[in-house]
Amino acid sequence: MDKSERSENLVKSELLRACKLLYRQKLVYATAGNVSHRCGDSIFITATGTSLGYVTPDSLVRLDMDGNVLEGGRPSSEYRMHLAIYNKFPKIKAVVHTHPTAATTLACLQTPIKTTLLAEAELFLGEVACAPYADPGTAELAEKMIYYVHGSNACLLESHGLVTWGATMKEALYRTELAEFTAKININAKSLGY
Ligand code: 13P
Repeated sequence: MDKSERSENLVKSELLRACKLLYRQKLVYATAGNVSHRCGDSIFITATGTSLGYVTPDSLVRLDMDGNVLEGGRPSSEYRMHLAIYNKFPKIKAVVHTHPTAATTLACLQTPIKTTLLAEAELFLGEVACAPYADPGTAELAEKMIYYVHGSNACLLESHGLVTWGATMKEALYRTELAEFTAKININAKSLGY
C-alpha cells in the first residue's frame, strides 16, 4: 500500500468513526446530518440518505473541489455547503453538519448562541454565525451560510441545524459538542430569567 492509499484509508476510518460518535451522542437522528473530510484535492463525504449511526465504507463518496463525483454513489445533498467551507478556508480539513436539539432550537427561533456565557465557548468557538433560512440541500443554503461566516468556526442554519468545521476531524467534532453544550446553557440561563 503506498502513502496516498494509507492516508486515504486513514481519512475514511476517521470519517466513519466521527459519524458513529455523532449518532451515539444523539447529535443527529434518522438520516439527518452529514460529515466530510478533505483528502488532498478532494473530499470524502457521506452519501445522501445515510444514517450516520450505520455508515460503512460504501456510504462514502469522493468529490473533487468542484463537486464532481470521483468515486461512490450520490453525495450528501449538502455537498455544496461543505465545499463552500473548504474552498473559503484552505486550512480546514473536516466539516460536520448536525441537527442537535438545543442548537437547532435556537436556530429555529433565530436566536444566536451567546458564547460569552461560557469561557470555553468564547475561547474555542468565538462568535457563532447565524445564517437565514434557505431550503436544505440547495445552492442557496450554501451561499447564505458562507456569506454569514467570517471569523466563525460554526454556523447556525435557521430552522434547520448546525455546521462546524476544523483543521482536524477532532476539532470539528469538539466544536459541534461545545456549540450544543453552550446552546443548552443558553436555554437553561434563559429559563432562570437571565
Ligand atoms: P443528506 O442525507 O442529503 O446528507 O441530507 C441530510 C441533511 O441533514 C440535510 O440537511
